[in-house]
Amino acid sequence: MTFDTPISRAGSHCSKWDMMKPLYGLTPDEGLAMWVADMEFKPPQVVQYALQKMLDHGVYGYFGDDRKYLDAIRWWMANRHGWEVAPEWIFTTHGLVNGTALCVHSFTKPGDAVVLMTPVYHAFARVIKAAGREVTECPLVLEDGTARMDFAAWEKLLTGREKMLILCSPHNPGGRVWTADELRAVADFCVKHDLLLVSDEIHHDLVYPGQKHMVMAKAAPQIADRLVMMTATTKTFNIAGAHIGNVIIADPALRKTFANTINAMGISPNSFGMHMATAAYSPEGATWVDALMRYLDGNRKLFDEGIARIPGLRSTPLQATYLAWVDFSATGMTPEEFIERVQKVAKIATNYGASFGLGGETYLRFNLACPRAQVAEAVARLERAFSDLQ
Ligand SMILES: Cc1ncc(COP(=O)(O)O)c(C=O)c1O
Repeated sequence: MTFDTPISRAGSHCSKWDMMKPLYGLTPDEGLAMWVADMEFKPPQVVQYALQKMLDHGVYGYFGDDRKYLDAIRWWMANRHGWEVAPEWIFTTHGLVNGTALCVHSFTKPGDAVVLMTPVYHAFARVIKAAGREVTECPLVLEDGTARMDFAAWEKLLTGREKMLILCSPHNPGGRVWTADELRAVADFCVKHDLLLVSDEIHHDLVYPGQKHMVMAKAAPQIADRLVMMTATTKTFNIAGAHIGNVIIADPALRKTFANTINAMGISPNSFGMHMATAAYSPEGATWVDALMRYLDGNRKLFDEGIARIPGLRSTPLQATYLAWVDFSATGMTPEEFIERVQKVAKIATNYGASFGLGGETYLRFNLACPRAQVAEAVARLERAFSDLQ
């Protein structure tokens, strides 16, 4: 299989294609599903073999003995990210939305506030609010289309109730790879305002050639006593349905608190996820990710060239992630007007920018992790839908 091979997912109970009709009014035949952040690709063979081995064995009981899993994480983090992780630091959760929710429950109380740098992954605000906590939205600023942090402005927005900051690194949406200096500035901000820092690094492997992701724990080792790291195999290897993620905590006191929450919520590993993730974090998995990023690099270039041909549309240069972030503000249209064109005329299902919080209102997010022909088709449809602007 190559990344060019189309795989029909309609009718497979996948959220991206099978929820497109109820949510966007588009059938899989007419619509292009470019919203949910998963990929149209099969994972590497090594993951498929691990699953096949389970099927051949045919008994699906409770999981036990996570030594291979923990060692695979240790290997991946040391080899790909230069970060040494001790096995006892690692908790396995049912994905990172689950990890975020567990952090919110562990380290904040109802009525406390959590700082988010918006626009940012929408599920953060959802779980924070559902837990009876508040969100303090700190908008990123744009300099030449590149997102930057603005700590001086953010200080004025703090209410004094903030206990935690959730960082998205690399950032979704917009695909910024934060520099070591930016990460250290986030760490300083957290120290200054006594915030626990949760660093969601789920996109850390999806970094384009020429960019280097820096792990927060490496950038600011001095804040280990207020740092919770979150990583996962799921985004990298397209196994999000396995619902598995890692919450990695070096500090013993924070770890004890988090362990209590895990016990209180009755969380234990999903054996399918454990087998798949262990297989993925391997030399074969690494070779596959390198090939994936070369392919996605081609997709992002094709998409950006197409968007650049449409007056009024501006695609944010991605440093990481396969999630294109397109600004429609220069069309002069309201969000309702440009969404109508993209959804009803081009028949493309995207994520609405406003759902990512302050600063996202004039944007749509397009998922480019699909065969290149689909990216080309999306561009052609957008050019037609906005042809009167030419
Ligand atoms: C920053 C970020 N965190 C978490 C998730 C989802 O994590 P999970 O599927 O492990 O719950 C996503 C999905 O797009 C994401 O972008």
